[in-house]
Amino acid sequence: MDSKIDNLNQKIALASLGGGQERIDKQHKNKKLTARERVLYLLDEGSFEEIGMLVTHRTTDFGMDKELYFGDGVITGYGTINGRLVYIFAQDFTVFGGSLSETHAEKICKIMDQALKVGAPIIGLNDSGGARIQEGVRSLGGYADIFYRNVQASGVIPQLSAIMGPCAGGAVYSPAMTDFTLMVENSSYMFVTGPNVVKTVTNETVTAEELGGASTHSTKSGVTHITSANDIQCLEDIKTLLSYIPQNNRETTKKRAFTLGDEIRNALDQIIPNNPNKPYDMHQVINGIIDNESFFEIHKDFAQNIIVGFARIAGRSIGIVANQPLNLAGCLDVNSSVKGARFTRFCDCFNIPLLVLVDVPGFLPGTDQEWHGIITNGAKLLYALSEATVPRITVITRKAYGGAYDVMNSKHIGADFNFAWPTAEIAVMGAKGAAEIIFKNEIKSAANPEAKWKEKEAEYAFKFADPYRAARRGFIDEVIYPKNTRRKLIKAFQILENKDVLKPNRKHGNIPL
Ligand code: HXC
Repeated sequence: MDSKIDNLNQKIALASLGGGQERIDKQHKNKKLTARERVLYLLDEGSFEEIGMLVTHRTTDFGMDKELYFGDGVITGYGTINGRLVYIFAQDFTVFGGSLSETHAEKICKIMDQALKVGAPIIGLNDSGGARIQEGVRSLGGYADIFYRNVQASGVIPQLSAIMGPCAGGAVYSPAMTDFTLMVENSSYMFVTGPNVVKTVTNETVTAEELGGASTHSTKSGVTHITSANDIQCLEDIKTLLSYIPQNNRETTKKRAFTLGDEIRNALDQIIPNNPNKPYDMHQVINGIIDNESFFEIHKDFAQNIIVGFARIAGRSIGIVANQPLNLAGCLDVNSSVKGARFTRFCDCFNIPLLVLVDVPGFLPGTDQEWHGIITNGAKLLYALSEATVPRITVITRKAYGGAYDVMNSKHIGADFNFAWPTAEIAVMGAKGAAEIIFKNEIKSAANPEAKWKEKEAEYAFKFADPYRAARRGFIDEVIYPKNTRRKLIKAFQILENKDVLKPNRKHGNIPL
């Protein structure tokens, strides 16, 4: 009993320590923090209130009744981040490897339920060996209780998961069902089956890092949205991410104070190269339009042919989906469509207006894409944007070809404002390919087919490769000078503030998954 009291006293002493940030000095920068240090660092000084500190597990098998630890391997409670209420759980690897028992799960479920009731974000700091092996099905049931709550909370309160150690087996499915997953480089990993099982079943030799480390999931699988160099950076990234999103689906993100004065951005006029086939970096356009240094990119290293992320425009939080001509010429493919769709749906759930920047030559051709289901996956982005009822604005900077024109937030699928720069080319396809098809016979029978092709290509380009035909039909609301884009967007987002769309009565749509 004495040891239990000592244990409790120790925990109370730790919990009551003030100001996480100051206490965790620079020497921790590249080290793993303890669960409690993580909680204290993340939350505002003195704001943490722990719930369930005295909970212990109920297992008697394997002599477990002799090993009782208060809290049972997870710290749960609430506090504030920059004054905003959040609920938090942090798994403690020092207690049975942070493994999830029935009671450990009950603690997490309790704060999930409360977060949902009061409409506050929930943040999970994961560091766990998975299901508590000594508990068998009770721990599996505990996971399922959490998964069920993840789904009930989806689209109601923001759910953020940081992976700060192991996350293996079915445990990965809770983070996977939350809105954003962050991973710490070199000290976290996620996989459904570990390297040993992989070796047994497929005879592949792979390390935990290669199989499911932060770099694997940020570049290859897209499972993680953000990677952070160390624990402290990860906790800082959570704070930044949270600053763009509201408390729940009934609120909007609080606008930051902002003074107008730099609406005209001349540098934007210089970005598009004279040669329409020369790439440029869409980040330049994004940074040229938004409030200075306000871009927070999501999924930065995955499917780089599309850029998604949060930014502010005149203090207002927005989500950006933009083609990236620097990568695959900005073509849409399977991964970029899924990436764009997922981000769009998050923004729509949480009332974050969308800006779509378009420079897309079409969908990426090839057997690889067709066999991996570009039809179904491309449809996800089309569906997500068509479904979104938040304010939606499009700016076409250069190419908007074929089906990708429709998909990228065209007027036809419900965008509120569609602007185009004078450099925009809106057509069924590029002039070269178009000329080859529609003037096939003329080109073939010409004395100099190559010269004829060039002539017809120029003819087609002259007719279609501009924004004016679309503007004459009203598909483009206005052709604007690039330097005026920011000014136009500030006004447009402002007037769309009270946008209200009545949705048809149905249980839910059937997005092509
Ligand atoms: C009980 C566990 C545990 C677990 C670790 N420990 N995982 N106890 N249940 N799942 C304990 C260890 O016994 C050890 O206790 C302490 O935690 C630290 O573990 P180590 O192995 O010493 O640490 P390390 O070398 O860093 O290795 C970490 C690890 C490894 C890679 C996570 O422990 C591991 O492989 N654990 C099992 C992982 C696993 O298979 N989990 C089940 C996945 S299936 P002592 O007393 O020695 O300090 C799953 C299903 C979920 O989760 C399904 C949901 C639908």
